Amino acid sequence: MDDLKQKYLDQIADAADEATLESIRLAAVGKKGEVALKMRELGKMTPEERQVAGPVLNALKDEINSALTAKKAGLADAALDARLREEWLDVTLPARGRPQGTIHPISQVSEEVTAIFAEMGFSVAEGPRIDTDWYNFDALNIPGHHPARAEMDTFYMHRAEGDNRPPHVLRTHTSPVQIRSMEKMGAPMRIICPGGVYRADYDQTHTPMFHQVEGLAIDKDISMAHLKWVLEEFVKAYFEVDGVDLRFRASHFPFTEPSAEVDIRCSWEGGTLKVGEGDDWLEILGSGMVHPKVLSAGGIDPEYWQGFAFGMGIDRIAMLKYGVPDLRAFFDSDLRWLRHYGFASLDQPNLHGGLSR
Ligand code: DAH
Repeated sequence: MDDLKQKYLDQIADAADEATLESIRLAAVGKKGEVALKMRELGKMTPEERQVAGPVLNALKDEINSALTAKKAGLADAALDARLREEWLDVTLPARGRPQGTIHPISQVSEEVTAIFAEMGFSVAEGPRIDTDWYNFDALNIPGHHPARAEMDTFYMHRAEGDNRPPHVLRTHTSPVQIRSMEKMGAPMRIICPGGVYRADYDQTHTPMFHQVEGLAIDKDISMAHLKWVLEEFVKAYFEVDGVDLRFRASHFPFTEPSAEVDIRCSWEGGTLKVGEGDDWLEILGSGMVHPKVLSAGGIDPEYWQGFAFGMGIDRIAMLKYGVPDLRAFFDSDLRWLRHYGFASLDQPNLHGGLSR
């Protein structure tokens, strides 16, 4: 009996998993196990012998069962420990990984500009980047001989011999969208057109492709005063300051009369730009009252309607607001630059939640 007991207790102690433990249980105290067989032998014994052997066998069965239970609990504990070690994680880590991509400053600024003008009732219009020279020049009162054509460093599309379609250009500004929008929507209207434009030019502040936003408001009684108010509201909202001084400088554009270039008060003290203070002026846009010929070209009767227009460099105002020193970096696709200057993808710019926060 003692041998039997020792044999099973040793096996139980050595068992490495629950399956082994179960086979030991069957062999020892199962219905056909060794202890059960011994119990069956009790029947052949004399009553005196049975009185001795019976309790001993029962005690043996109990002892093996409790050794099995204890070992089973031990194995379960060890398994849990191992799993917990395996599944350990640092709960002080941020709950969500940083998004991989960022929003490019030009996209961000386009969204900011759109949000501000939307608040003033302007909708967004678009036009093709490859356009005819009529939309890009003639319709905007820039005839073939006009020096503005030469100044713009225009990219002309190649024409195969015998191709008689009108000449096409990569649009040199967003102004042709004025004409396309007039044709489409008629008067009155209020639109902005953000988008890419092209000129053959390349240095620290010029790239062959860059971005502008055009503005156009047409109604019966639109004046320069409206233009001035709209631009002031825009500049305050965009630079997120309470007040700014704007300077309207008489200028000339073929498509507006009168025309004004708009400068914004700023300081360059210590090499960093501050908008709204100081004694320097920085040009940010061209503007004016839409020329009657331009209204006519867009199919709008200048006898009844008038309006203002403006054109602004998106890249330029992005550089100013976010302190980007070199325009060319916008188009390098350098991920380190994008991580530094980019914006979180889930923050939609809006006037109420903050434009750039
Ligand atoms: N199209 C001009 C340019 O690219 C900018 C401009 C000036 C647009 C005056 C306008 C405007 O709508 O009224 O330089």
